[in-house]
Amino acid sequence: MTGPVRIAPSILAADFAHLGDAVEEIAADIDLLHVDVMDGHFVPNISLGPPVIASLRSATDLYLDCHLMISDPVRYLESLAAAGANGVTGHIEAIPDPLPFLNEADRLGLDAGLVINPPTPAEAVVPYLDRLSLVVVMSVHPGFGGQSFIPDVLPKVEFLRESIESAALSTDIEIDGGIDLRTAGAAIAAGADVLVAGTSVFRAEDPRQAVEQLRKTIRGET
Ligand code: DX5
Ligand code: ZN
Repeated sequence: MTGPVRIAPSILAADFAHLGDAVEEIAADIDLLHVDVMDGHFVPNISLGPPVIASLRSATDLYLDCHLMISDPVRYLESLAAAGANGVTGHIEAIPDPLPFLNEADRLGLDAGLVINPPTPAEAVVPYLDRLSLVVVMSVHPGFGGQSFIPDVLPKVEFLRESIESAALSTDIEIDGGIDLRTAGAAIAAGADVLVAGTSVFRAEDPRQAVEQLRKTIRGET
């Protein structure tokens, strides 16, 4: 771990008709913005792409952590970089040879990461850890917000934490899906550095308060 656990709300759960306002409301209290890009092919849902990322870029200085649930992520890296993405994460299930993805991200000055779905073993990304700024462990099956956290993935977070520490790497571990006040503690205890939270933040009655509560959980105050 390279510092305190960070909070990355997922805009997938925001009201897209008022996206700028929804982000602005919590911008000062969060660490990154998680942007779920879905293509209707790698996952059975379609969300948003570079045009929306470009609009977000002009609305906020927040780090845009772009989760690419798409079949051919390399093809879109240039337009994502031009739109203002900061980090891009691709699924190892979509790119079994991730080197072209990692090389292209480097060339474009994007932070790069790899994502593993719940059934995918953590070993699949270990050979690339030294190339990654982020490794993402999905704690739901990708495609939709608002699903229940799958605790069976936690040993993968522990395993990756050990692999990162033993190789003295600075790769961060992000956990994505079903994170709320009830599940965040276990994710942190397993070794997560970044918590993605969509529904529990943007669908809360008071999103700022929801972030503050999550922050308290991180600080061990609840
Ligand atoms: C799932 C996405 C998410 C997830 C987060 O495909 O990658 O980032 O929806 O949203 P919640 O917190 O609602 O699970
Ligand atoms: Zn995501």
